[in-house]
Amino acid sequence: MLRLNRSLIADLNPSSHVSESFRSLRTYIRQLGLLKGSGGQVLLFTSAEGGEGKTTILSNLAVSFVQDGKKVAVVDCNLRKPGLHSVFDVEGSQGLAAYLSGYEEAKDIAVFGSLANLAVIPAGRTSVSPPDLLGSDKMAGLLEELKASYDLILLDTPQAVDYSDARILAPLSDGVIIVARHGRSKREALRRLKGLMEQSGVRILGIAMNQAK
Ligand SMILES: Nc1ncnc2c1ncn2[C@@H]1O[C@H](COP(=O)(O)OP(=O)(O)O)[C@@H](O)[C@H]1O
Ligand SMILES: [Mg+2]
Repeated sequence: MLRLNRSLIADLNPSSHVSESFRSLRTYIRQLGLLKGSGGQVLLFTSAEGGEGKTTILSNLAVSFVQDGKKVAVVDCNLRKPGLHSVFDVEGSQGLAAYLSGYEEAKDIAVFGSLANLAVIPAGRTSVSPPDLLGSDKMAGLLEELKASYDLILLDTPQAVDYSDARILAPLSDGVIIVARHGRSKREALRRLKGLMEQSGVRILGIAMNQAK
């Protein structure tokens, strides 16, 4: 079961100026031409440090794309501090961790709800180290399956300077969006993050500046 909670501004109040900024981000991504090819595109969201707004921005962007007629899957690859299960009030899925550990089939971990065309895969729980799970061939397999059914697959990840999780997922994605928080993200940390993403060979699509005035 999946419901939308208050942090989903794009769904609750499509006319607010905040929703407008998600439409701008949607337009920006659309204009990159990523959605023209056949098969879904995988976009990875990460940040230099925690709490910069990855989960909030990814969730609202997902709703915005669904409102625009796209089929979207969001995957909580932040096994350290998951967030998508609470944004979307997800119940009844053992999540990505159970699939990667071999306890669940891919078809049983996605949750659907009031928004048709939006699938949510929560993180679930694990005692295995996240980089070991995320680096398994099963992760690539899941993304291939999702690409066959969805236009966009958005991956939420932990901050990428402290943890290798996002760097492990980067080569499996078509582009990365770096989330930074106005007045809080440090230039030096962002520079390090940019260097790490460049090393992984992933295309950096842009920086989404959260709470910019
Ligand atoms: N633009 C915003 N305005 C107000 N609160 C925000 C905004 N962006 C994020 N938050 C809040 O800040 C906290 C951290 O955001 P979150 O999206 O969970 O960050 P991250 O996923 O990068 O750790 C959450 O409580 C979230 O609701
Ligand atoms: Mg988060």
